[in-house]
Amino acid sequence: MRKKFVQVGIGSRAGMYYTALARQHRESGDLLAICDNNPGRLELCARQLKDLGLQVKTYQADQFDRMLAEIKPDCVIVTSKDATHDEYLCSAMRAGCDVITEKPMTTDAAKCQRIIDTQRETGRRCTVTFNYRYSPPRTQIKELLMSGVIGNIVSVDFQWLLDTRHGADYFRRWHRQKENSGGLLVHKSTHHFDLVNWWLSSIPVNVFATGERSFYTPQTAERYGLHRRGERCLDCAESARCAFFLDLRGDAPLRRVYLENEAHDGYFRDRCVFSPGLDIQDNMHVIAKYASGAIMSYSLHAFMPWEGYTVAFNGTCGRIEHRCVEAVYGTPGEHVPVPGNSIYVYPQFESAYALDVWQGAGGHGGGDGLLLDDIFRTGGKDDKYRRAADQRAGAYSILTGIAANRSIAEGRTVAIADLVQNIGVPDYTAMPGTLEALAMPKNGNVGLSPAQVRQLGRA
Ligand SMILES: NC(=O)c1ccc[n+]([C@@H]2O[C@H](COP(=O)([O-])OP(=O)(O)OC[C@H]3O[C@@H](n4cnc5c(N)ncnc54)[C@H](O)[C@@H]3O)[C@@H](O)[C@H]2O)c1
Repeated sequence: MRKKFVQVGIGSRAGMYYTALARQHRESGDLLAICDNNPGRLELCARQLKDLGLQVKTYQADQFDRMLAEIKPDCVIVTSKDATHDEYLCSAMRAGCDVITEKPMTTDAAKCQRIIDTQRETGRRCTVTFNYRYSPPRTQIKELLMSGVIGNIVSVDFQWLLDTRHGADYFRRWHRQKENSGGLLVHKSTHHFDLVNWWLSSIPVNVFATGERSFYTPQTAERYGLHRRGERCLDCAESARCAFFLDLRGDAPLRRVYLENEAHDGYFRDRCVFSPGLDIQDNMHVIAKYASGAIMSYSLHAFMPWEGYTVAFNGTCGRIEHRCVEAVYGTPGEHVPVPGNSIYVYPQFESAYALDVWQGAGGHGGGDGLLLDDIFRTGGKDDKYRRAADQRAGAYSILTGIAANRSIAEGRTVAIADLVQNIGVPDYTAMPGTLEALAMPKNGNVGLSPAQVRQLGRA
């Protein structure tokens, strides 16, 4: 029996799934219907699918239950706005369907609890698609940590940079309100916190955070001399001078998907990034303690000249440093990929070395294609890195950000266990333990000589 799929939320990210079901994963099943709250986008998507050889039925958001009753899908793919995921996941699981959801699984603790409880009660399979785990350099880091080359991990120092092209985009759309996205510490950092949880094979225990909106503010616009700003780029008097101008009319895909359909739902894709009305932060710092004993320090910055990250792991037997420069954003329109991947291993008492970084091609550094293979073909079986994730990993990936938001608001450390109950332990790999014997240096005593100690004393 071929699997029957339906998909809800058919904006830009949705295309990765429905295109895969129309092309390279056609043998995995049939996409039979799509659902969205925007009738114009629904029709556009149905036409695009027809061109790809797929005939689908269309349903409005308030007809979701009817779609389930009429189509009787085996699996519902959820790619709608973040804050709506829970509603569709729970209704679909209650109707007997498996679900596949985009990150973040949801945006607050109450919704997360509902998903955890519904999955437990129904026993349905809930897959959360963490494409970042599949990106080859990040899998390589997992391989290194599993190998024990730096022992057990005691701390992680992680800094993620979003540039003024990609980072700014969150301040134009629905993401700019926490009620839609949970803020960047949930919407974006769910990827990063999931990576750390998965890299360490551990879960966060408590979180302290601080954060500000430091850059995307009316004051910054004034400092740029942008005094006559409009609500959106389309009719802004400053658009000719503004490096953050988004040309919805001039960009054919954006025009077709968003501008030509905004009359249906008032979703403006090009709101001013310096508006006073948005409530998310762009400069955030988090300290989290893990069940394994490790401590993570993390920061996210949304207005940087380059996009990517640096991460360092300190272990009982050494240190790993990994840097990934995805792109450098120069003058507007010029987005230059640079070869910026590096991994250095510093084993304790031994020579340091650099590694060739594993490469991938395609969306999200090659992660998207491998993820699709996993969810549509292999089901994640026999993967030594256990990259396939369910609601347990989905929950722990958002709870650090939800706790961080609360910590910022209340100025205190927040315990993850106080947020959501009965999550269960995610299915992670075994890692080097904290009781394993440590090896002394091979060459015997490499301690300091008395002369060296005297030298240090003078420094
Ligand atoms: N894994 C990744 O790398 C990645 C990348 C981009 C987006 N995403 C995720 O994919 C999802 C979609 O993001 P996007 O960039 O495509 O956004 P988008 O704004 O382009 O699309 C969202 C779609 O959801 C629809 N929608 C809004 N409210 C709805 C409702 N109540 N019911 C049904 N449909 C509704 C909108 O009309 C729109 O078509 C988000 O959860 C986002 O976090 C993940």
